[in-house]
Amino acid sequence: MLATIYLSLIFLALYLAAFAVRRYRFAQDKKRMMQESRAGARVVARVAEIRPGSVKKFDLICQKYRIDAFLINHQGAFRAYVNRCRHMTTPLDFVRYQFFTEDGRHLICMTHGALYDPESGLCVDGPCKGQSLYALPVRVDGDDVLVGCPEGDLLEVADL
Ligand code: FES
Repeated sequence: MLATIYLSLIFLALYLAAFAVRRYRFAQDKKRMMQESRAGARVVARVAEIRPGSVKKFDLICQKYRIDAFLINHQGAFRAYVNRCRHMTTPLDFVRYQFFTEDGRHLICMTHGALYDPESGLCVDGPCKGQSLYALPVRVDGDDVLVGCPEGDLLEVADL
């Protein structure tokens, strides 16, 4: 009986410690994002750094949520999406840091092979066909690429 109580207290202490660390890291990341923000959007890359066909992952802190996202340069146009497949809640690059198919024509979810149109985010083949990635607002300001938070209810796109 006493052992059970001690074990419960240890698990509770571990849970609270992990929660405190997570809250601290969230606050630090939010502060860093505020420093890297301009007019309500985060500077996530320099224009010259993201060549056509390349990808950069980043996080956004939106309201009280963290959003895992990625920026692409598709044929000279920048697009940003939440890094979450519409089939299941896994990131597209679940297996390794790979977002584009080998021919560069589609974004691919490495879990079950869903293909997305890079320009619109529409799933054109695979188990999520007809649904779209969650797009994020992108704008270029001078040499910087900025990405903002999505509108509306963020529960569906946030990392909890
Ligand atoms: S989780 Fe992406 S295709 Fe299944």
